[in-house]
Amino acid sequence: MCGIVGYIGGKDATPIILNGLRKLEYRGYDSAGIAVLNNETKIEVRRDAGKLDNLVNLVAREPVTGSIGIGHTRWATHGEPNARNAHPHVGTTGRVVIVHNGIVENYQELHEELAAEGVTFNSDTDTETIVHLIERYISKTGSLEESVQKTLQQIRGAHGLVVLSADEPDKIIAARIGNAGGVVIGYGEDEMFVASDIPAILDQTHRMSFLESRQMAIVSRKGVIVKTFDGKPITPVIQTINWDPIAAEKGEFRHFMQKEIHEQVRSLTDTLAGRVDFEKGIIQLPQLNLTSETARKISKIIITACGTAAHAGMVGKILIERIARIPVEVDIASEFRYRDPIIQPGTVVLAISQSGETADTLAAMEEGRLKGATTWSIVNAIGSQAMRVADGYISMQVGPEIGVASTKAFTAPMVDLYMLAILLADLRGTLPVDQRKKLVNDLRLVPDLAGRCLERELEVAELASELKDSKNALYLGRGINMPIAYEGALKLKEISYIHAEGYPAGEMKHGPIALIDKDMPVIALAPKDPWYEKMASQIEQAKARGGKVIAVATEEDKKIEQLADFCLWIPPVPWMLSPILTVIPLQILAYHIAAIRGLDVDQPRNLAKSVTVE
Ligand code: AGP
Repeated sequence: MCGIVGYIGGKDATPIILNGLRKLEYRGYDSAGIAVLNNETKIEVRRDAGKLDNLVNLVAREPVTGSIGIGHTRWATHGEPNARNAHPHVGTTGRVVIVHNGIVENYQELHEELAAEGVTFNSDTDTETIVHLIERYISKTGSLEESVQKTLQQIRGAHGLVVLSADEPDKIIAARIGNAGGVVIGYGEDEMFVASDIPAILDQTHRMSFLESRQMAIVSRKGVIVKTFDGKPITPVIQTINWDPIAAEKGEFRHFMQKEIHEQVRSLTDTLAGRVDFEKGIIQLPQLNLTSETARKISKIIITACGTAAHAGMVGKILIERIARIPVEVDIASEFRYRDPIIQPGTVVLAISQSGETADTLAAMEEGRLKGATTWSIVNAIGSQAMRVADGYISMQVGPEIGVASTKAFTAPMVDLYMLAILLADLRGTLPVDQRKKLVNDLRLVPDLAGRCLERELEVAELASELKDSKNALYLGRGINMPIAYEGALKLKEISYIHAEGYPAGEMKHGPIALIDKDMPVIALAPKDPWYEKMASQIEQAKARGGKVIAVATEEDKKIEQLADFCLWIPPVPWMLSPILTVIPLQILAYHIAAIRGLDVDQPRNLAKSVTVE
């Protein structure tokens, strides 16, 4: 979704903003623009459709300089993705300019009202109404701050907004309403930054604070004043973000996705760090604030999430039900809030989100909260809304994930859910000590085992060359590896644009078996888990219909080796942890197919990294 960067200080704002926008490309966008206050008097805007390089080239041909500026990458919602609709948008006077993330839900009505007052619109966007409203109020009050405040009270929907005025060149105003994405304030020496997301400014500063909904920040080069929309002063909490800016660079890899797949040894190690005491065989998740008493009161857990995060939740359901014997439902977040879900006493709504800003997931958390549930989140982005609004959270600790296709932020939450299941069972007194110690000890080897899967990249790449021209693919799994079939299929379709279906293998005979012929690759998840025999017979059924079967199987498994046409091997692993490994060859497979097809792996068409609109 849209990305925002702003700068105020003593340096040239243009390279800082363009560099920040580069770091936000991963969010997904279709046009970009920059506005700089030239000599503190005149607003200069450059905008172009398409990739950021188009804007960079435009700026090289028609330079803009100044020490205050704002920039934007736009993911179109209202109006085509062309230069005219790209942000920043300037008002009629040419003295005010804005960038915006969100949808003005009442924009038709505001548009008509402004047009009736004689305002001429220069774009087809909903955003443009905002700048005209601000100008309307400036003409009455003379104050930018007051005008932004009044405007924000008039627009409906969720928004992140940054505003600059040539008449008040000593400040940038940023504001947030609801969950249209975050607003991050960065603290430098005699300079300040504003952004929609941490990586945009991470190479400038590690000191950041975050706006809550209905707060605005008046940012000058000396610091920031934060207030609620009704004027109540807020003391911002400055956090030190320890993410390594290099982690947000591709390094030796061709794509971020490939780098992030390979980072899983490290991210899984970091996921365990500080949480697992292997000596005592115990798990600690302090940010959940759990006690024996509160754990015993839990009657049900509803896991809610979208996309890949929901697939991690499906694995979590099996883990928590098996280990902690607490009933778990998994609800797709975009469905949850619209069906008036039943929340009984003792229910926990547990959201999983890499970005922590997914609008549907945040709305599901809110629905749970309103109905009296305790809310927890498993979240990666530090300071994100899902982390802040939850009663308790588990931080993923995987560092920035830039590739749109989620990889390391899929394996980490599965480990988090495994640890959560052990902790809950332990606190509820239902897990014998020897079993707890065994389950905890099993975690010890997970990062290394993930590394062994990664070592087989070349074998997987070989298969990718064979499958690159497939039109369809069917992914089958059962039990704890059934969600991995969904995830494998999602990875393939989102980055390679090959149609793929994930299916519970036992359901195949109820319909999808009709699809199987020699042109339909069937990817079957058949590691040594409790569903292994069932999967083996499923493979036989697919083979009997002429299907080409690729099995994800445990090393040395002669039976599957004979049955399948090709095997992607994982090392032996306790079955409850097997999804963490079985997904890795499927991530690599999707990656190489997309890379061979020459596609934009990290920014696939139409997709955004954090989906902050409904
Ligand atoms: C994963 O590869 C996706 N691009 C997508 O499904 C993602 O997992 C989903 O949008 C949820 O995002 P979140 O984890 O940031 O909430």
